[in-house]
Amino acid sequence: MPVPAIAVCCSGQGTNLQAIIEAVRSRRLRARISVVVSDNPRAVAILRARAARIPTVVIDPRRFSSKEAFDRSLSRIVEASGAKLIVLAGFMRILSGWFVRRYARRILNIHPALLPSFPGCHGARDALRHGVKVTGVTVHLVDSKVDHGPVLLQEPVPVMEGDTEETLLARIHRVEHRLYPRAIQRVLSGRVKVAGRRAFIR
Ligand code: GAR
Repeated sequence: MPVPAIAVCCSGQGTNLQAIIEAVRSRRLRARISVVVSDNPRAVAILRARAARIPTVVIDPRRFSSKEAFDRSLSRIVEASGAKLIVLAGFMRILSGWFVRRYARRILNIHPALLPSFPGCHGARDALRHGVKVTGVTVHLVDSKVDHGPVLLQEPVPVMEGDTEETLLARIHRVEHRLYPRAIQRVLSGRVKVAGRRAFIR
């Protein structure tokens, strides 16, 4: 059986991308990263992809008149790469309804909180400010609302006394790096069934 191709979209540091690259290398994840796409030319993720000899594409959002025009370009890149699954790994853009419908159940996202708590760009910071004792990591399918689609995997992460955003994020990242490759593998092996908001992993 051919190894399924995935496209990974990143805007920043790319530590989750790195975890996925390493899971592919060690065969914990049976996949091929066919392209890494970024909306940020300065994303460290791009350097990580190049170091791993993975094709990269930077799409500059300023070149597009609308969100959908950007997403159509993203879609062309995904199609050309042969990717069957789109993995958002710190991709800080809201996708258009058009894109989400086109790739229904084929887009994954990871979020640094236990959704539906603390959605948005600063999940860890918001959890810390709120004073929760437990936060966590969520991997979910992407739907038309932000940080909202059916949950695939979640894992709690304790908030310690004296945590800063940095120390909490470091603890969250360690869990993310373990959870995301596992979730991707389960989706690729067809072990996920979705019924409404509920996703079941067999
Ligand atoms: C990750 O912590 C991910 O959960 C978060 O961005 C970070 C990217 O880190 N995503 C969101 O907040 C989505 N709402 P990375 O670039 O080092 O993988």
